[in-house]
Amino acid sequence: MKVFHLSVECFPVAKVGGLADVVGALPKYQREMGIDAAVIMPYFQRKFVRDHDFDIIAKGDFYQGSILLNYEVLKEKQDTLGFPLYLIRIPGLLDREEVYCYADEADQWIAFQHAFLHYIKSNSIFPDIIHCHDHHVGLIPFLTRHSIDFKVFDKVKTVFTVHNGQYQGWMNWNKGIILPAFDTWKWGLLDWDGLINPLATAIKCCDAYTTVSEGYLTELFQDANGLQNLFYDERQKATGIVNGIDTAYWDPAIDAQIKANYEIASVEDGKMKNKEMLCSRYGLDPTLPLLSFIGRFAGEKGADILPEIVEELIPEQSGKLNIFILGSGDPEIQAHIAELSDRFEQGLAVYLGYNEELAHQVYAASDLLIMPSRVEPCGLNQLYALKYGTIPVVRNIGGLKDTVIDVEEGGYGFKFEEVDAAQAVEAVDRALSYISNSENLSQLRERAMNLDFSWGKSAGKYIELYNHLLK
Ligand code: GLC
Repeated sequence: MKVFHLSVECFPVAKVGGLADVVGALPKYQREMGIDAAVIMPYFQRKFVRDHDFDIIAKGDFYQGSILLNYEVLKEKQDTLGFPLYLIRIPGLLDREEVYCYADEADQWIAFQHAFLHYIKSNSIFPDIIHCHDHHVGLIPFLTRHSIDFKVFDKVKTVFTVHNGQYQGWMNWNKGIILPAFDTWKWGLLDWDGLINPLATAIKCCDAYTTVSEGYLTELFQDANGLQNLFYDERQKATGIVNGIDTAYWDPAIDAQIKANYEIASVEDGKMKNKEMLCSRYGLDPTLPLLSFIGRFAGEKGADILPEIVEELIPEQSGKLNIFILGSGDPEIQAHIAELSDRFEQGLAVYLGYNEELAHQVYAASDLLIMPSRVEPCGLNQLYALKYGTIPVVRNIGGLKDTVIDVEEGGYGFKFEEVDAAQAVEAVDRALSYISNSENLSQLRERAMNLDFSWGKSAGKYIELYNHLLK
């Protein structure tokens, strides 16, 4: 079975968030299960691309509106990622440094999708499944059915995975003329409230859609930034499949980026060594419990209430708790957090930016990880934390609801209901008082580290879905 995963992020080529982690791992595990899975993504001028060898395997051109675009398809020579990686390069559009934030993003993703279809058509490649990830590639399920040039693919099954339903890829209708020519009476499939909405289009046209947890699927029926009725109406083709983690990369027993490796039997000693290293580097006290936040400073992640949480916790737990924050994003939140790190020299350490290696070290060193997410389709950080014996303190939402069980229910985490600093602080207090008993802490760590969130199960569920569509 031949499967193309289409995405604009893929770890370690280009990562902004969890989307990259999933696309960089799922195909590898599918290949181990006998599926011919590959990733195709836009070309980015990034370290991974500079450091690896690629062959140019195809070239072509097409008109985007009145502009002739030339593209090249590059394939990584060595398959170092465990799956074939293809990049589509278009000078001026798909050869940039950053993944997002360009004013002509719509042109970029339209060009990517058009080039992909052009490439597979010109080379007579007929995948069994085209698996699209998030709105950037949401027009594919429409174009394979209703575009004039690419109808040859109308029997190819399309699967669309929603990693984030908040962003929908809205475009003004003036972009309609740069799309590959399509049956104009089908325009309604592109439209949502007077805009082209690639997420809505994908949900209408795909053969199956999935969300990255079951909890998130039911939440989308209630609230999906305007698309809740659509998600609900199309529910017969929906499945919630929780993400896994790539244990080749996220496992404290073999992680080369942390100070000391450890497993359940050596967790206490191992975490202490990692904590000592992190604390000495950032001026924290390794004898105190360490609570961390890792992630994008975005409203979705609840990062806007993070400053308030810190402002309440530090004086309240004065001399009894250290906090580490690793992240970047919204400039206002970032400025606020920078100000706090000046104000609370004792007890708080902050790293503003994106740092994959440091993230591994923080998971290994921390006792607690806080996630006050407003929206969390799956959430990978709590899964990484659990694997590293770090106890999650999370809002009860989306994938966090599905993957974290509260200690009060015999579980291994601490949950709170609302995006509310007082509730978050209360949950942290509850966690601190629980783990102040060292026997409690070891028991929780053991439970956490014994959980299995590896890709095995979830990769299989996608394959079941593909098989079902191909029947
Ligand atoms: C998005 C979601 C996150 C999810 C990830 C991978 O980043 O916000 O919850 O884990 O995609 O699916």
